[in-house]
Amino acid sequence: MSVHRDRNGVEVTAASTAAATHLDAAIDSFLRFANDGGDHLGAALSADADLVLGHCLMGYFMRLANDPALLPGGVAALSRATEIVAQGVVSARERHHVAALGCWYADDWLGAIAHWERALLENPRDLLALWVSHLVQFFMGRMAQLRDSAARALPFWPDGEPGTAYVHAMYGFALEETGAFEPAESWGRRASTANPDGVWGVHAVTHVLETQSRLREGVAWLADLDQRWPTLGPFANHMWWHRSLYHVELEEFDTVFDLYARGVRPEQTMDYMDISNAASLLWRLNSRGVDVGDRWQELAEKCALKQKDHLLPFSQAHFALVLGYDRRHDDLAKMIEASRALASGAGTVAGLERDVLLPLEEGYAFLAKGDYATALTRLLPIRYGIGCLGGSNAQRDVFAQTIIDCALRAKEFSQARALLAERVANLPGSPWSWKQYAVALKACGDADGAMLAGTKAAALLAAQSA
Ligand SMILES: [Fe+2]
Repeated sequence: MSVHRDRNGVEVTAASTAAATHLDAAIDSFLRFANDGGDHLGAALSADADLVLGHCLMGYFMRLANDPALLPGGVAALSRATEIVAQGVVSARERHHVAALGCWYADDWLGAIAHWERALLENPRDLLALWVSHLVQFFMGRMAQLRDSAARALPFWPDGEPGTAYVHAMYGFALEETGAFEPAESWGRRASTANPDGVWGVHAVTHVLETQSRLREGVAWLADLDQRWPTLGPFANHMWWHRSLYHVELEEFDTVFDLYARGVRPEQTMDYMDISNAASLLWRLNSRGVDVGDRWQELAEKCALKQKDHLLPFSQAHFALVLGYDRRHDDLAKMIEASRALASGAGTVAGLERDVLLPLEEGYAFLAKGDYATALTRLLPIRYGIGCLGGSNAQRDVFAQTIIDCALRAKEFSQARALLAERVANLPGSPWSWKQYAVALKACGDADGAMLAGTKAAALLAAQSA
C-alpha cells in the first residue's frame, strides 16, 4: 500500500496509481450523477481489492439506491472496509469514511454525518465526504446544515479548479432550499457555466425558477434535455420531472404527457426516485381534473411491492400517497403495520417513521376510505414535520397539495382558505394556487374575493402564455 493523491490533491491509500485513478473517476461520476460510476468503481476494486475508500463508495452506492435487494452488497462492503481498517494501513480521513458507513448502515444518520464533517475538518477538499454528507442531510431535511456544510468548504476551492463548481452547486442548491433565491441562482449559474456537465448546479437554478414561478424561463432553461447529459443516470428523469412541473402550472397537459413518456417515466422502473417523480406529477394532473389513464395504476402496482421497503421515509411517503389515492386499503394497511413495527426503534428512520411517516400514512388511509375529516386530523399536525422527510421543497409540495385537497373534500373550507392564503403569499406567481384559493373563498361565501383570486390566476397564465 502507498499514498496517492486524487485530482484535488487529497491523499488516498491504494496499492497502485491505477486503482487510485479509477476511484477518482468513480467519485467524479458520483458527483455528476453519471451512470458509469459503478464501472469505474469496479475497475478500482479490481486493481486493488483492499482499496478502503473503494469499499466505502460501494457501500454508499448500495445504501443510496434505497433498494433492499442491494443492502447485502453494502453490508459486505462495510465488513471488508472494517477489516482493512483493522489492518492499520489507512489514513484518519479514510477511517472517518468507514465509521460513517457503519453508522449509516446502523440507522444512525446523524452519526454518519458527524464523521463526514470531521473528515472535512481535517481535509476540506474531501469532495466525497462533502457530497455524501450533502445527500444524507438532504434526506433528513437539514437544509440549514446543508447550506453551512458547503459554505465551510468554499474558501478551499478557488475558481478554475475542476472541483470548485461542484461545491458552488451544493451551496447554490442549499441556498435555494433555505429561501435565499437570488444568491442561490447566482451560485447555481456560476457552477453551471464553469461545469456544464455538473447537473447539480443546473438543478439549483431549476429550483429557483420553479419556486419563483418563472415558468417560461424554466422551460427554456431545460430545453435541451434531449441532447444534454447523455451519460446521466436516473437523475435525468428528475430533470424531466422539473421541466414537466412548469408545463403543469401553464396547464399545457399534452406537453406534460409527452414529457412523461419521453423522460419522466420512459421505463416502468422500481427506482424510488422514478416512482416519486412520477407519483407527484400524476397526482398534480389528477387533482386538476386531467385523466391520466392507466398510469396511476401502474405506479400503484409498483408501490404495493414496496410497502415493506422503509429505507427512505421520503420515498415511502410517496408510495403511501399512491396507495391511498388508488384506494388500496390492504396494501396501505400492511405499510402502516411495517411503520408501526419500525417506529419503536431508536434509529433515524425509526424516528421519522414514528413522528412523521406513520401519521401521514394513516391520513392517507382515512382519505382512501373517504373519511376526509379524520384524514385531516392526522395530516394537519405534521405539516411542518414533513420537512424532516427530506427531499426538496418542490418535491414535498405534493404533500402540501394533498392536505389542501383533503380540506376541500372534507368541506372544511375555512381551513382550506387558510392553507391557500399561506400558499399564495409564499408562491404569488403560481396560477394553480390562486385558482384553488378562488375555490376556497367562494366556498366560504366570499364571492368578491373569489373573483379577484380567479382574475389573478388568469392574468398570471396570460402573462406566461406561449
Ligand atoms: Fe429537484
